[in-house]
Amino acid sequence: MKTLRVGVIGTGGIGRAHAERLTKYIANADVVAVNDINETAAKATAEACGARYEADPIALIHAEDVDAVLIASWDRTHEQFVCETIEAGKFVFCEKPLSNTADGCRHVIEVEQKAGKRLLTVGFMRRYDKGYQQMREVIASGRLGEVLMVHAQHRNAAPTGEKHTTVMSVSGALVHEFDITRFLLDDEYVSAQMILPRSTRNADEDLIDPQMVMLRTKKGIHIDLEIYMNCRYGYDIQCEVVGEEGTVRLPELANIAPMRVDGTRQHKIYTEWYKRFEDAYVYELRDWVDSALEGKAAGASAWDGYVTSAVAEKCTEARLSDSVVKFDLGERPAMYRTTEV
Ligand code: NAI
Repeated sequence: MKTLRVGVIGTGGIGRAHAERLTKYIANADVVAVNDINETAAKATAEACGARYEADPIALIHAEDVDAVLIASWDRTHEQFVCETIEAGKFVFCEKPLSNTADGCRHVIEVEQKAGKRLLTVGFMRRYDKGYQQMREVIASGRLGEVLMVHAQHRNAAPTGEKHTTVMSVSGALVHEFDITRFLLDDEYVSAQMILPRSTRNADEDLIDPQMVMLRTKKGIHIDLEIYMNCRYGYDIQCEVVGEEGTVRLPELANIAPMRVDGTRQHKIYTEWYKRFEDAYVYELRDWVDSALEGKAAGASAWDGYVTSAVAEKCTEARLSDSVVKFDLGERPAMYRTTEV
């Protein structure tokens, strides 16, 4: 069996978890080298995965024993590491967002165009979630008639990772909704608006929380998205698609057993984001590894990364101008016209 030898850059919350998933659950992947500016974190992950610690991320990317690179460092570092890996001719998995800016994503697209083939996968794992996949099948079957509206909520108990700001809630978290909604609808966005409800006292000073985003697509579908980073009670992801003849809703409690106890019917809810989508993370990494071994890039592309970051920017523009911002995302290059997942 062929094995993909992976180098990992960034071993915080999700980087370490991805390295361990590759090691424990994905038979044809080996984590061979690990880097983080936090040497202690990198060495702990290296030890857990039987890999070596590499002090220099650029040396890791170019190392002869590294076939492909997984990037899970902070958002602002992604573009540089992704471009370096593509220029080295290696497959690269990069956590979302691809870049903090639409320009940064366009730069990645240019570099990949020059490479002449898709090498990049962006970590939009919800495409691998069975619930969303069922919703996509229902919508594509036409049983709902034409889709009219989408209502979705993204709530975290509290922010994790880097300190959250108003912009980051949208560019770092709500990008998941931007990606999965267009994946479900097979449609593209044309305008954005933001509405700010009353703010919670539980948010840091630089974060307006919650926020509401309204998007419209080319087909005229209305999408309303709530992002609430300090909801306190749990990690809660909801999505309902409303059509002319019916609706379809995301199964919200995948893998949680309902109880009847103390005269009540009850069930736990997720409190940590990584538990809610654990299966999807494993499936996306498995697809990335299998595809790379076949010489292909799986999952969300640089174009998908660009669209989501560009829409995030338009949302900020809409918030600051308190208006509906109309936009045209431009022509999708031929390399990105097929979507398998
Ligand atoms: P974190 O803060 O826990 O970990 C990030 C790690 O990257 C830290 O250990 C930090 O020292 C390291 N790092 C930062 N700059 C570096 C550099 N220049 N070189 C090497 N290492 C560097 O953050 P977390 O939550 O693990 O997030 C990492 C990335 O994954 C972020 O881009 C985030 O948006 C994304 N993410 C994606 C999720 C998903 O559901 N797909 C969920 C959580 C995070």
